[in-house]
Amino acid sequence: MTPPQVHHVTHPLVQHKLTLMRNKNASSTTFRTLLGELAMLMAYEVTRDMPTHLVEVQTPLETMQSPMIDGKKLVFASILRAGNGMLDGLLRVVPSARVGHIGLYRDPATLKAVEYYYKMPADLQERDVIAVDPMLATGHSAVAALNKLKAARPRSLKFLCLLAAPTGIQTLHAAHPDVPIYTAAIDRELNDHGYILPGLGDAGDRIFGTK
Ligand code: URA
Repeated sequence: MTPPQVHHVTHPLVQHKLTLMRNKNASSTTFRTLLGELAMLMAYEVTRDMPTHLVEVQTPLETMQSPMIDGKKLVFASILRAGNGMLDGLLRVVPSARVGHIGLYRDPATLKAVEYYYKMPADLQERDVIAVDPMLATGHSAVAALNKLKAARPRSLKFLCLLAAPTGIQTLHAAHPDVPIYTAAIDRELNDHGYILPGLGDAGDRIFGTK
């Protein structure tokens, strides 16, 4: 059963664009454009409970107190390299957010995620962090990324992807039951190479045209 921390975004626009992305004949340009649009739509969901504060604003008619989010408190933590494909869309919706990067590779001997790059804004204790990777497959790199981010004690932590495999959800949820997961789809399974089925192929290759 899907844990309650999983937010499955079923909006028709999200589902429509995801179907277009799955098509193996979609060009890199189309794939990137759709990923950017989906990132904007997913941003709407993942920021739904962001804290707001009232500011004074002068309308053409009078002065009022009106809510604003503090985008500077938000950090999009991109898990390299496919996470970068969602950054433009996320930043279009929250332009004042900060951006961090985490690079991980899988050690062929131990199959464990090994960190090769980590750069985050300072003072994560005062920030809401959204870790971003379009594909939640085995969940190993997501767990490693969240382990590292949690060590910096962010004010809040969420995980945003487009496509999740049931295994990835279980692994991530077992390691970090407090971290909400936002996804546009939960696919059937992983194949022997760790690819999501039916999936959309290698997201990084399709974004950057490196196949
Ligand atoms: N990463 C991808 O890019 N695609 C998958 O199917 C799984 C992991």
